[in-house]
Amino acid sequence: MRILIVVYSFTGNNLLLARHLAQALGADLVEVRETTPRTPVTILLDLMFRRPGKIAPLHTDPQEYDHVLFLAPLWNRRIATPMRTAMRRLAPRLGACSFATLCGGDRAGQSETVRKDATAATGRPPTHQKEIWLETQRPVTAEDLARLTPQIDEILGWFAPAARTTSP
Ligand SMILES: Cc1cc2nc3c(=O)[nH]c(=O)nc-3n(C[C@H](O)[C@H](O)[C@H](O)COP(=O)(O)O)c2cc1C
Repeated sequence: MRILIVVYSFTGNNLLLARHLAQALGADLVEVRETTPRTPVTILLDLMFRRPGKIAPLHTDPQEYDHVLFLAPLWNRRIATPMRTAMRRLAPRLGACSFATLCGGDRAGQSETVRKDATAATGRPPTHQKEIWLETQRPVTAEDLARLTPQIDEILGWFAPAARTTSP
């Protein structure tokens, strides 16, 4: 199965996970880059004024892949604005897609909001969706990822059921 991982990451957490998944799945990896500086203040401004994130051109064609996996942080229960922009941009040539995030923790209604965001931006509901809760503000390390193995295996299992470490 040809898999493309599209990642946006502000503080590095989702990029670390994306690199790990890309290696485990033999997937191609494309990083969403912003054209204006990102700060915590601009995150709040984007959310307050419903501003879309401005991103650089994405040099990839989703039609060359069987599945596209989007990875991005959540900001105020929503998929980070630059990723929503990337999803909208790729939508016309997108087939099956899924969304996963290394995020802060559970918030009321968050999973539903994420599903709505992904569906609105791509034009289709995500095949799979996963929130991995960090419950910490510090950047994740390779050791943190090791502790999250069961949840990461769940994502790997979307694409290669035999790769699961635990029996269903
Ligand atoms: C302004 C802001 C708002 C956030 N809101 C949420 C939220 O609503 N839900 C959540 O689970 N995490 C939230 N987080 C935490 C991030 O999703 C989390 O730290 C994530 O791992 C950062 O990913 P990155 O390092 O790839 O940018 C928020 C972080 C910031 C900076």
